[in-house]
Amino acid sequence: MIPRVDEVLGDFIGYPVGGYDDVVVRMMAPLDIPELRKISPSDVKNPFDFLVYSTLVAEQQGRILGYTQYYVTVDGVLHSLAIRIIPESKGQGVGSMLMDVKEAIAIKAGAKTHLYIIATEGEEALKKIVTKMGMHKCQKHGAVEFWVRSMETV
Ligand SMILES: CC(C)(COP(=O)(O)OP(=O)(O)OC[C@H]1O[C@@H](n2cnc3c(N)ncnc32)[C@H](O)[C@@H]1OP(=O)(O)O)[C@@H](O)C(=O)NCCC(=O)NCCS
Repeated sequence: MIPRVDEVLGDFIGYPVGGYDDVVVRMMAPLDIPELRKISPSDVKNPFDFLVYSTLVAEQQGRILGYTQYYVTVDGVLHSLAIRIIPESKGQGVGSMLMDVKEAIAIKAGAKTHLYIIATEGEEALKKIVTKMGMHKCQKHGAVEFWVRSMETV
């Protein structure tokens, strides 16, 4: 199922636009930062990450259910960073939606490769998401695993 997005992202990536009752993925707005800092407080996350990295949020009825962060380099690599879903909304496909929209934006922006460095002891749900997206674990370095996928269409 293609995730629903807001009108801004719908215009850029052609995904269906959702309404108030849907789970909708959109770009973070500055006024979201206090809520995001509650989801990931400064003892677990550098708050400046919200200022320097592109951030997508998933929202339903005005409530933020989760977010993901990323950046795309000039050589066409999508670097996935944090993803976090609020406890009550885990296991409902929200994380998968955020990852899907993130890749769709990156591909439109010219990214050819997706790289995600994931904690070896990280959550199984995240490894399921990236595996389903076609990523594979190409290296393991102690506490982290390098998951990669080519996003080029041949
Ligand atoms: C990891 C995380 C982002 C996944 O998001 P989510 O919205 O819960 O995941 P989804 O509902 O999209 O599920 C993805 C897959 O994982 C499976 N899954 C969900 N919860 C699971 C669990 N507790 N154990 C194993 N698999 C699980 C789902 O069934 C789904 O697989 P399927 O498509 O084959 O059915 C979320 O659990 C989270 O925020 N965890 C805490 C923060 C974190 O660890 N972030 C990663 C490092 S930055």
